[in-house]
Amino acid sequence: MARHGVAADPDGFSLRSPDGVAYRVDIEPGVLHPANPRLAGYLADRRVLAFAGPTVDRLYGADLRRYLSAWLAPGSWDVHVIPTGEQHKTMASVERICAIAKESGLDRHGVMLALGGGIASDIVGFAAAVYARGIRHVKVNTTLVAQVDVGVGVKTGVNAYGTKNMLGAYHPPHGSLNDPGFLATLPRREIACGLGEIVKMAVIRDARLFATLERDPGVFQRPGGEHDDYVLRRSMELMLEELCPNLREVDLARLVDFGHTFGPAIETDSGYRIAHGESVAIDIAVSCHLARRLGLIDAATCARITGLLRALGLPVYDPATCTPDRLHAAMRSAWSRRGRRLHLVVPDGIGSAVFIDDLEDVPDSLLTAALADLAAEAPLVGAVR
Ligand SMILES: NC(=O)c1ccc[n+]([C@@H]2O[C@H](COP(=O)([O-])OP(=O)(O)OC[C@H]3O[C@@H](n4cnc5c(N)ncnc54)[C@H](O)[C@@H]3O)[C@@H](O)[C@H]2O)c1
Ligand SMILES: [Zn+2]
Repeated sequence: MARHGVAADPDGFSLRSPDGVAYRVDIEPGVLHPANPRLAGYLADRRVLAFAGPTVDRLYGADLRRYLSAWLAPGSWDVHVIPTGEQHKTMASVERICAIAKESGLDRHGVMLALGGGIASDIVGFAAAVYARGIRHVKVNTTLVAQVDVGVGVKTGVNAYGTKNMLGAYHPPHGSLNDPGFLATLPRREIACGLGEIVKMAVIRDARLFATLERDPGVFQRPGGEHDDYVLRRSMELMLEELCPNLREVDLARLVDFGHTFGPAIETDSGYRIAHGESVAIDIAVSCHLARRLGLIDAATCARITGLLRALGLPVYDPATCTPDRLHAAMRSAWSRRGRRLHLVVPDGIGSAVFIDDLEDVPDSLLTAALADLAAEAPLVGAVR
């Protein structure tokens, strides 16, 4: 492997960043099968505290316990069920996990394992980042969002002071494992949320991935779907490549922020009625209409992108939260998060995107016009859930 970069192999990807951070993301079918050594390799001879939300525990908790008891010494591991849901992604949950760890005698040699989606991995990852100033953390990613996004990066965190992911840490995983088998039990809406992040990657980087999704909008909806492997692998790879040179987000102009300028406000303002991946889809649709008004893409390209989002079961518009005032405020808050530059990502084709760096370049009149275009498109196609 080159000094830094992302290397693909049949079992997943290895990343080494320019500042020397290295980790793997494995694609591991049957990860909890008692004969599968992969996960055990990351836990070897250490005390392990595993955490899962109630739903994941109900579905996979018995498999996890069977697995850990097959590979680890009796008394050296425990599984705890923690409340998940965005309202539980809090410092209180992190403190509870740390208290459990302290009580069970977990020392710096120990491992915290999260079995679940982005919420479990964000909470447990943050606990692992601060417990004893940082211990190992392994994620077994059970949602599509976690497999293509949360699970491939180094960010952990919780919501605080009315703001999503206000507190957190960059804490690279000791191991991160994606078993496509978990997706079989994932509700349709959660699959769509993951596809929102995947469309994001396709629009900014990869026209072929985009065309594959257009041809097969039923991807990940039946076991062993023809394009599932390609879409999962390619999405992971694109995300890893985008993150690698900028793991700690020193450069605040990030292409992967496509869908994440208006999205966070839409998600929060809706009281989480709109899920994260859905807010990404709506943001993509708004950004495409802005790009069309700016002459960066034509109407047909804009319609192809919003058409794909709809075909995948994603919303493209939400009248309650998509008001010019609210979206303008969202731009301002992105501006302040991104070091007083807007860095709004908009497509200039399918598979390619550019930044709009200054707030003044998106005047209220432009935003209002783009929203009106989107509102005019949405009812026709019944996009609003
Ligand atoms: N750290 C990062 O880089 C990063 C990146 C993107 C998103 N996030 C965060 O991730 C969170 C969203 O993650 P998510 O979409 O995975 O949500 P989630 O963790 O809430 O999981 C979604 C739902 O699916 C259920 N579930 C999980 N796995 C299942 C399975 N295999 N079968 C059936 N049900 C299952 C969960 O119980 C939950 O109800 C947000 O809080 C977001 O801010 C973090
Ligand atoms: Zn996201």
